[in-house]
Amino acid sequence: MKTIRISLLGLTALAFSSLNLLADSEAIDATAVWKANCKKCHAEDGSGATKIGQKLGIKDYTDANVQASMTDEEIVKTTKEGVFDGGKKKMPPYAEKLSEEEIQAMVPLIRSFAK
Ligand code: HEC
Repeated sequence: MKTIRISLLGLTALAFSSLNLLADSEAIDATAVWKANCKKCHAEDGSGATKIGQKLGIKDYTDANVQASMTDEEIVKTTKEGVFDGGKKKMPPYAEKLSEEEIQAMVPLIRSFAK
């Protein structure tokens, strides 16, 4: 009897944790957000190896030194406010376009580009 009760508990826990995973991934798909909004400049792999990326001098986020040069706060701030060079817009601000959760999800995603 004892073993049965334990395995039932285990199954219940498993069911709950997979439900949680499902709910999380449905809430925010960071990769989808990146592909839809950031990829055209920053490249799918975050290397910045795109035509626009080269033109604008986008940094290579697969480079550990580049990763070390920016803080999580800076990633969030830049994503919200964009990048302006004088009056010239180099990167659009996403504060209005993406939710707070989507913007926060860009931090672990960008960190995952590091080689
Ligand atoms: C129109 C092209 C363009 C798009 C689209 C774009 N960016 Fe950028 N981004 C740039 C440029 C240009 C810079 C400044 C150069 C650099 O720091 O690499 C930059 C800089 C950044 C930085 C700052 C890095 C640092 O050094 O602090 C982050 C973080 C960033 N972008 C994230 C994003 C995210 C997330 C998205 C999508 C939600 C996005 N970008 C979309 C062009 C773009």
